[in-house]
Amino acid sequence: HQAHPFFGAQQQGITTPRPAVGMLASFDVLATDQAGLERLLRTLTERIAFLTQGGTYEQRDPRYPPVDSGILGPSIDPDGLTITLSVGASLFDDRFGLDAVKPRHLQRMVAFSNDALDADRCHGDISLQFCANTEGTTIHALRDIIKNTPGMLMLRWKQEGTVPVMAPRSDGSTESARNYLGFRDGTANPPADNSGLMQKVVWVDDSNQEPEWARNGSYQAVRIIRNFVERWDRTPLQEQEAIFGRRRDSGAPMHGGIEHDLPVYDNDPDGKVTPLDSHIRLANPRTHGSERNLILRRPFNYSNGVEANGQLDMGLLFIAYQADLEAGFITVQKRLDGEPLEEYIKPVGGGYFFTLPGVQAGDYLGSSML
Ligand code: HEM
Repeated sequence: HQAHPFFGAQQQGITTPRPAVGMLASFDVLATDQAGLERLLRTLTERIAFLTQGGTYEQRDPRYPPVDSGILGPSIDPDGLTITLSVGASLFDDRFGLDAVKPRHLQRMVAFSNDALDADRCHGDISLQFCANTEGTTIHALRDIIKNTPGMLMLRWKQEGTVPVMAPRSDGSTESARNYLGFRDGTANPPADNSGLMQKVVWVDDSNQEPEWARNGSYQAVRIIRNFVERWDRTPLQEQEAIFGRRRDSGAPMHGGIEHDLPVYDNDPDGKVTPLDSHIRLANPRTHGSERNLILRRPFNYSNGVEANGQLDMGLLFIAYQADLEAGFITVQKRLDGEPLEEYIKPVGGGYFFTLPGVQAGDYLGSSML
């Protein structure tokens, strides 16, 4: 019966520990004026508050459709559900008169050099990130929201993913789950339970020169990144490790140790141990000042089906949060442009969103923006 608090200064689902199941759904807003947008935000707030805390649906007159999909039964368990509401740059176009309050770095995602973006899986006025212990809970929540927003919201695309939750080992040490390329993923993430660090890395505050209302919000970067797993599985282990810059089995740095030992590059200026173009060294060179580019990653592995050529359609639903989209995701991705890993990955979708600040009881998400 695990319920995460919904009311608070910041939204849930960002620094909340990542559960096994995730889904990112992107929507277009059908409302055409600010009053309609307010109605939508009030409805979303009310549904998220109910779904994440759980409860019982009151069945109405059987001559009407049931109040919910019923897939969890009449009573719903919170099941660790978090729902995180974010808005895209397109919400600040002339429909709602919000141009003047747009977050400073919010922009439409443009393709990076290795991207093959599929227009049907990009952008959106609103994103909802659903995370829970089981898939039935995220699907139920999505269907509840769709049912309660007729004429207000239209689904544009969605991507689901999963990741095993790793129990601590018997000696108390922790290990990160693996992605579909077989490597531990999340090792060097800034720890989400360090609230001082999260204040710098993730949450917008006075230092970010954002509109007043945006404080305690965050930028959400979403990327659907396909992995060419058949090709990867035929690649020598030493090449795989050189591409990431870590050991596959342990997740340790190339110079040895255990997974959570930090990589040290000072005595390796030519990249003889950890290649200069390895994924981790490009993503975070650990040079003076590069801590400004830290991001909080919260990815899920996805497995969708089969491509027309018989290849598996699987990869990484990459989701990252940061207080400054330019200094965070965009800078890191530009450094990664051209990395050797590109031979095995293809970003096909996603978008940039701004995660609204949290909400107090009686208020609604986004009220300070309107
Ligand atoms: C680290 C995999 C995409 C940013 C890592 C690690 C792996 C990995 C295995 C090392 C373990 C760890 O610290 O988590 C992948 C895969 C990707 C992908 C398979 C695509 C399918 C990205 C993207 C970004 C990114 C798009 C951001 C633009 C980072 C960062 C680190 C990292 C910042 C930590 C580096 C450090 O601090 O040492 N990734 N990654 N990754 N990745 Fe990725």
